[in-house]
Amino acid sequence: MRYAHIVGWGKCTPEKVMTNDELATIVDTSDTWIRDRTGIGQRHLAGPKDTCTSLAVNAAVEALDVANISAAQIGMIIVATSTPDFAFPSTACLVQDALGADASGAFDLSAACSGFVYGLSMASDAIKAGSIDYALIIGSDVMSRVVDWKDRNTCVLFGDGAGAVVLQASDQPGGMLTSVLRADGSGGDMLYCRSTYRDKIVVSAPQDTAAPTAASGNSKLADAGFMYMNGREVFRFGTRVLASATRDVATRAGWEIGDIDLIIPHQANNRIIEAAAKALGLPMDKLYSNIEHYGNTSAATIPIAICDAVNHGRLRPNDRIILVGFGAGLTWAAAALQWGTPRILSRTNRTLNRVRLGLANVRSRTRRIFRKVEDSLFVNNDKHVKPQAAPPAIAPRSTPPAVEPEKEQKV
Ligand code: ACO
Repeated sequence: MRYAHIVGWGKCTPEKVMTNDELATIVDTSDTWIRDRTGIGQRHLAGPKDTCTSLAVNAAVEALDVANISAAQIGMIIVATSTPDFAFPSTACLVQDALGADASGAFDLSAACSGFVYGLSMASDAIKAGSIDYALIIGSDVMSRVVDWKDRNTCVLFGDGAGAVVLQASDQPGGMLTSVLRADGSGGDMLYCRSTYRDKIVVSAPQDTAAPTAASGNSKLADAGFMYMNGREVFRFGTRVLASATRDVATRAGWEIGDIDLIIPHQANNRIIEAAAKALGLPMDKLYSNIEHYGNTSAATIPIAICDAVNHGRLRPNDRIILVGFGAGLTWAAAALQWGTPRILSRTNRTLNRVRLGLANVRSRTRRIFRKVEDSLFVNNDKHVKPQAAPPAIAPRSTPPAVEPEKEQKV
């Protein structure tokens, strides 16, 4: 029998921190309001050099170090994100390239704040089925780039960051046990962000199945490319599903609620976490919260919380853990897992991984140059064989840059 264990974890948050007091100089709010209503004290915000991909790569490198494996061993990379740098290629492909994960498939997963648990569930099933031995699951979001910094209803809630875990196949019982994935698209209009190309109708428009019946929302925000959120409704939804999904997944794992050692919930609002604790009849210390330091980093909240929980000694061998998230879609998801024994970090491999990262960068650049040379050779060859009419002018495009992971950034 095959099991899937989390054997590596890492996080990356941008260097820049914005406190509530600083935020209060931009919008009409206060530290007291934000702390009382949400539990948030500060958030990290992406600087000019930070991207969804660079944060994801930094978190992934840290997770590979902890797992003590090289990127070449990874068979699947999933990046859960709502704020990718490109519609395509996927962030996961850019991460694959930056890491030099040559034997890996890579794709992005769009399930908003539930995305990380969705990804973990899919990857663990692939491991248990025997398709792969290692998977890298990353949650990475730069929410600061889709919130309207003039809208106090949303801008106070979000931050930027990435978290990653490595899943490994093992014959040792434990690890990822079961999961529950759910969606209700009828609630899509409660929380959404339109794509920037959605309304660019050039030739003939297909029948508009209009994303989340967007007209019902604050279309001014949506039109400007910002996220729209009906805070009160999302609050009610989050409170309900955090408790129900936890119960569902615990039942599937054969656990009573009292058997759970720690619940790591999506960090959207401390009051939502408190309400879930109350509904489950659990004391608050059974639900992990680090929202004070980061705000809501969307798909990254749960993997970042895993890292902090490990660092604070909250995850011990054989602990029964539930990860539970909710978000736009609407989506919600929970996973039950038995925590494995952490491995010992090897200096040799850490150093080796840095060398490999450098080589991946060289390899990526070499391939790009090679493609350009190949392309120009073929163009010349084609001209020689069959002269063609000049191609129509194509607007210059910005190609996805080779990602150079910056130095590890720690909180
Ligand atoms: N500072 C000061 N006052 C504020 C602020 C602010 N930042 N924001 C709102 N207010 C005001 C409102 O204008 C309102 O004033 P009024 O009574 O004069 O109209 C008052 O505070 C109360 O507003 P409410 O909306 O009732 O405040 P509430 O207690 O519901 O808190 C909040 C709002 C924090 C947004 C809450 O509803 C919430 O957390 N919702 C869930 C959000 C969430 O989970 N989002 C993540 C989804 S996950 C994903 O996929 C991205």
